[in-house]
Amino acid sequence: MKVLIATEKPFAAAAVNGIKAIVEGAGHTLALLEKYTSVDQFYAAVADADALIVRSDKVTAEVLAVAKNLKIVVRAGAGFDNLDLAACTAHNVVAMNTPGQNSNAVAELALGLMIYMNRNQFTPGTGSELKGKTIGIQAYGNVGRLVGNLAMGFGMKVLAFDPFLSNEMIESTGAKVAASLEELYEKSDFVSLHIPATPQTKGSIGYNLVSRMPKGACLVNTARKEVINEDELIKVLEDRPDLRYVADVAPEKAAEFKEKFGNRFFATPKKMGAETAEANINAGLAAANQICDFFATGNTKFQLNK
Ligand code: 3PG
Repeated sequence: MKVLIATEKPFAAAAVNGIKAIVEGAGHTLALLEKYTSVDQFYAAVADADALIVRSDKVTAEVLAVAKNLKIVVRAGAGFDNLDLAACTAHNVVAMNTPGQNSNAVAELALGLMIYMNRNQFTPGTGSELKGKTIGIQAYGNVGRLVGNLAMGFGMKVLAFDPFLSNEMIESTGAKVAASLEELYEKSDFVSLHIPATPQTKGSIGYNLVSRMPKGACLVNTARKEVINEDELIKVLEDRPDLRYVADVAPEKAAEFKEKFGNRFFATPKKMGAETAEANINAGLAAANQICDFFATGNTKFQLNK
């Protein structure tokens, strides 16, 4: 079988080497398309692929229509908003992700961004510490829990809101449960977002929630830019000159945020959360193993389009 890695944002070389060893060790061949600059390059590379490994690369109905031999696509990472699951199903393609494999990298970045903001983006002036502050974690999954754990290490108070988890589960990690999303925002000096981008969550973080945050608070987004209602967030930041926003991946209106809010705003130029060798290796090798296992045994444990 031909396994294609198609990554506009490439994996670390060690991850590619590891994937190659797994794929070839199982008797398959590996093809590599990195840093492609047009979808036509993607179409050409995927045309005869039996399996596909991607990162945030968009696997659309058009890609699937071209990929006549494709049987499985694995998103090496957690969020799968870049996969058209309905189209995968229509083309009999099994779609998977690799949950948890890059979570630590994202969690570390969330804490790093918080420090960066509390130290005035490393410009001269008096900053403040994380210790003693409250962090509210919106969605307490793989990344959210790691953020909570790291925050506790910094001496922060951890509050979490996750309607899909029991209070007992959340409390067993040492975090306190916020009774509502509103309460999470009202009580938190930082709110860290770990929700996926879905039709329900897109544009869901806006004026009503952010305006509830206490004086000097900071919204931290290492999830997806799409979950923010940018016009409403701009309005809150205008009405509340004490609030701040930091994001891993620039909002659509990044220039306006920067111009209006200066050091109260920062966004990474490209999504950096999973940009560590460790995360690339963990997620990439998991993807390769899932593909080889699927071909060898039919294992569909991580299938998203069941
Ligand atoms: C994820 O959903 O796993 C992260 O956002 C990482 O995305 P990336 O592989 O494009 O860096």
